[in-house]
Amino acid sequence: MKNLSQKRILLGVSGGIAAYKSAELVRRLRADGALVRVVMTVNASEFVTARTFHALSGEPVLSGWSDDSSGMAHIELARWADRILVAPATANTLARLAQGRADDLLAAVCLASDAPLMVAPAMNQGMWRHAATRANVALLRERGVQICGPAEGEQACGDVGPGRMLEPQALLQALSDSFSSMRLAGVKVMVTAGPTREALDPVRFLSNRSSGKTGYAIARAAREAGASVTLISGPVALDAPSGLQCIGVESAQDMLEAVMARVSDCDLFIAAAAVADYRPAEPAQQKIKKRATASSLPLEPVTDVLARVAALQRRPFCVGFAAETEQLEQHAQRKRLRKGVEMIAANLVGGGRGFDSDDNELLLVWEGGQCWLPRDSKPRLARQLVDKIATLYSQRFNKEISSEHHAKHSA
Ligand SMILES: Cc1cc2nc3c(=O)[nH]c(=O)nc-3n(C[C@H](O)[C@H](O)[C@H](O)COP(=O)(O)O)c2cc1C
Repeated sequence: MKNLSQKRILLGVSGGIAAYKSAELVRRLRADGALVRVVMTVNASEFVTARTFHALSGEPVLSGWSDDSSGMAHIELARWADRILVAPATANTLARLAQGRADDLLAAVCLASDAPLMVAPAMNQGMWRHAATRANVALLRERGVQICGPAEGEQACGDVGPGRMLEPQALLQALSDSFSSMRLAGVKVMVTAGPTREALDPVRFLSNRSSGKTGYAIARAAREAGASVTLISGPVALDAPSGLQCIGVESAQDMLEAVMARVSDCDLFIAAAAVADYRPAEPAQQKIKKRATASSLPLEPVTDVLARVAALQRRPFCVGFAAETEQLEQHAQRKRLRKGVEMIAANLVGGGRGFDSDDNELLLVWEGGQCWLPRDSKPRLARQLVDKIATLYSQRFNKEISSEHHAKHSA
């Protein structure tokens, strides 16, 4: 699955005969680039050993409370997970989840976590059909828990009927689908990412500390939201995400040209690249020789890519970034007005924050509103940012449709 890369999947395994299939599920999740941690009920270890899951997930497996040596593992895991999937979910575990119990580590993690919860019931057909199980499942569904399956067929006990756990491939698909919001389905998105390099001479350049991680995470998140994405990237040490068009550029001028060549076919422009503000005014044709005396470097301003796009008559919905070292809110609002863009995502940089780190925090400002996205990993922040952009984008789009409709009918 293309969109499981770097997703944090917490797999809960309870004590059903189908627990052996979850080992294959972990293997496949890892093969698709997901980060997997496994929590087993004590009864689950009667069916499969923790060692199997440890080897397959590459992470230690937690089971009973005694494995929670710090006493905080359940909270740490609850915060860590992007999704919790309990597979297999026994009749007993479903009952405990429905009751909101926290009497073992897995139940406590499920209770403590904000992450969407998915369960894959697996049990004898009689247990599945029982009114108690029906009521527990209905209650869980009502609370937003996604019930995956069960499938029908021949069972381990010889019965035939509903209660078989979905196969690993189907669970993988359900997890993958759960990350595809499709909120930007049909929307053409262009994202810029990474630093630019401004040549001083054939071997030297001016650049910055941008790693491209934020822009790449945004491009992925937009793809997962159903957009068709073009990523225009400065030089970075990241793999091109799959499922989107990736164009590599070097200088700010290259980036400007790459953007302008495609902007007419773009609905939403997200400028996450750290484009140079200045470049050497006269890059040397040959390598500059070392001299004993001090030297100075004349610089000239570079065309502002975002401002150029925002000034177009037919222009996309524009989102810019501001990396500041102080007074975040004031600088962000001013930048939004100066550039004439719909949204600015601002973050504090310097002192190990922002550039080149794996997590960040963002202040989003738009006309008449702002919100704070607290510290989190860049992929998770990107998904929240794209979600917010999708909300504002659809509001504006609906407004345009209704004013066009109004104009047509009042003409
Ligand atoms: C061989 C065997 C197979 C079992 N398979 C299932 C099963 O597939 N589904 C289920 O709900 N319970 C099954 N059970 C019963 C559960 O193991 C039992 O309800 C246990 O308390 C579940 O604990 P847990 O939900 O905390 O893991 C099985 C029991 C045995 C002995």
